[in-house]
Amino acid sequence: MFIVLLGPPGAGKGTQAQRIAESTGLLHISTGDMFRENVRNETELGKVAKSYMDRGDLVPDEITIKMLLERIGRPDAAQGAMFDGFPRNVVQAEALDTALAGRGAKIDHALLISVPDEELVARLGGRWICRQCGTLYHERNDPPKQPGVCDKCGGELYQRDDDRPEVVRTRLEKQKPPADLIDHYRKHGVLTEIDGQRSLDDVTASLLEAIR
Ligand code: AP5
Repeated sequence: MFIVLLGPPGAGKGTQAQRIAESTGLLHISTGDMFRENVRNETELGKVAKSYMDRGDLVPDEITIKMLLERIGRPDAAQGAMFDGFPRNVVQAEALDTALAGRGAKIDHALLISVPDEELVARLGGRWICRQCGTLYHERNDPPKQPGVCDKCGGELYQRDDDRPEVVRTRLEKQKPPADLIDHYRKHGVLTEIDGQRSLDDVTASLLEAIR
């Protein structure tokens, strides 16, 4: 099964992808995480991506699509995957459709998580992430048992550079899923819209229901 998770920055794509992956065993592919790993490792790709991410801009399609296609060509993605943060536009969606069609597959579900802007700002400002295992927390909504320490692995928690208020504003202006991308999946009959302004468990339940 191939799934795309759509939604504005802070909608809960990453959090829900981790939960769905745990519950279904589906491979979780996050282009944001792939870029951040390249930034950490100071690769050439990471240096280029960082200049866009720090401003709250999307990384150019050519770079992003190449990275994603290389990732889904690996054996662990042969049977299915859940894409978090990809595609961001119709060009990326069509590149993914073409790659999947080439192996007799398609996107089975596009899950759009909707959350109002004021809630997104609060979520991004309070987000903490484990440096070791990537588990996501929120200081108010989903806090770790001990501040600054991951419940799962004991790793140190950090805040993302692009969660600074001025960058968040740009991301919210420029990175909401565009209408033509949503239409792309509606036309293919695979779009489900999910109200993301509910408890984590309720959102997870709706997403799992949509893909069953
Ligand atoms: P990326 O990492 O994909 O960032 P994003 O889309 O902005 O999404 P976020 O990770 O910020 O939010 P999320 O929806 O995953 O929310 P989360 O679950 O963390 O991309 C980063 C950058 O990489 C981009 O800016 C761009 O430059 C580049 N990039 C990536 N993909 C690209 C592409 N395809 N093309 C071009 N460039 C690309 O939740 C947020 C917080 O809210 C957490 O603290 C969580 O605990 C909390 N929370 C979640 N759900 C709930 C809930 N129901 N109730 C209460 N709190 C909740």
